[in-house]
Amino acid sequence: MKKGSLILDKDYRIGKVDERLFGSFIEHLGRAVYTGIYQPGSPVSDEDGFRVDVLNLVRDLNVTVVRYPGGNFVSGFRWEDSVGPVANRPKRLDLAWNSLETNQFGLHEFVKWSRKAGVDIMMALNLGTRGIEDARNLVEYCNHPEDGSYFSELRKRNGSAQPFDIKLWCLGNEMDGPWQIGHKTADEYGRLAQETAKVMKLVDPSIELVACGSSNSDMPTFGIWESTVLGHVYEYVEYLSLHQYYRNDMDDTSSFLASSTTMDRFIRSVISTCDYVKTLKHSNKLMYLSFDEWNVWFHSNKQDKEVAPWMEAPSLLEDIYDAEDALVVGTLLITLLKHADRVKIACLAQLVNVIAPIMTEPDGRAWKQTIFYPFFDVSMYGRGISLEPVITCDTYGCSMYSAVPCLDSAAIFHEEDETITVFAVNKSLKEPMELVCDLRSFGKYVIVAHHVLDCSDLHAVNDVDHQYVCTKTVKESKEEGEKLTVTLMPKTWNVIRLGKVKTC
Ligand code: AHR
Repeated sequence: MKKGSLILDKDYRIGKVDERLFGSFIEHLGRAVYTGIYQPGSPVSDEDGFRVDVLNLVRDLNVTVVRYPGGNFVSGFRWEDSVGPVANRPKRLDLAWNSLETNQFGLHEFVKWSRKAGVDIMMALNLGTRGIEDARNLVEYCNHPEDGSYFSELRKRNGSAQPFDIKLWCLGNEMDGPWQIGHKTADEYGRLAQETAKVMKLVDPSIELVACGSSNSDMPTFGIWESTVLGHVYEYVEYLSLHQYYRNDMDDTSSFLASSTTMDRFIRSVISTCDYVKTLKHSNKLMYLSFDEWNVWFHSNKQDKEVAPWMEAPSLLEDIYDAEDALVVGTLLITLLKHADRVKIACLAQLVNVIAPIMTEPDGRAWKQTIFYPFFDVSMYGRGISLEPVITCDTYGCSMYSAVPCLDSAAIFHEEDETITVFAVNKSLKEPMELVCDLRSFGKYVIVAHHVLDCSDLHAVNDVDHQYVCTKTVKESKEEGEKLTVTLMPKTWNVIRLGKVKTC
């Protein structure tokens, strides 16, 4: 039996969880938009052509913010192509994904969809092939409230008298990556981002901006990219982005389950770099982080299926996730919660069909991948105060690290009803874990509910007809006095909800 202990105290607080931590991402890529969220003429679509089954699942997930329209796609995108009468919109070659973009779904359609889905928009700008002029025009088009300016009038003529009022904007996408259309050096990007930010805020001072950090922590320029870019934009932006996808292409489960350690180190390094630039600038401003692309992604890379170029909405990046991936996604969510003081935005990449928790069949059925479940749980119970857990537990060694904790855990205090939710993953492949929760100043609590995603068959997957991997309620938890003891079965994602014992 593995051992773990968790000390929680009312006074040990990381900070309030920003609801934008439960964000996601829709890119014009593969079947994310077409046959994903949008399929006009389908019996499962509404009067706007939006898939109702998908909208319902997005609402179930309680996604708060959706990044759009890319990704790599945005670096070659002309936003003007995607507005105005649908019949007049041009078809363009999408050079990022070798596809044909019809622009039948564009800016107004996305705004309408996001309102139906109940999500805020995180709008990404093209700083690959375009720049300051187009950025100011787009902000004016989306947000300028007054009549009479060229772009606010154009928006009205295109059917939206009210401004879209988009508050959150990304200054480009992965501009450090040589694959990116219009890839730039850190100085080239930093200068462009600074001047673009300045002009966008002249149009609408209420917006918040995210500057591009590195595409991942393995980039040779990681670190220098961040410090150089921040040197240019520190005063002009609120957030720096992080992107990272985790993979198990060597079939090494122990190392894959250590992905949260890798994510934690990545976040800490970016925080250190931000604070270093803050020091150099003698600034009082704290830079926050936007982890606006994260997930597991590798299954579809292993398939050497040839996709013909220039197809409309080809099947791309349709990873089918297994139970092991869900465990890893759970540990990554825990890691994000434990950095709630600095990571304010996070986007699970992506939302539908493309490396996604939600899949659709073109014939009209939608279904939940394994990774849907931990995201659902954290989005449902992860809002509140993230507590600083003092964790002691057994460790294991793997090819990447000599000592990986067998337990990943985060705890959220819900002030409104004084309940606590503990998220915990037992990463041991064979042994259960006895987890003792010491609640100190919280007083007497009982376990109200304990539910588990059982990943004992690590390679089990869901499909359109079967939800083999889904959360189930368990009853094996023990309670003892001021400390609560819970058994975590091996290879499980656990959500343990604690309620305060009222004393009269
Ligand atoms: O999410 C898929 C792709 O991954 C995005 O387009 C890009 O930003 C990243 O490299």
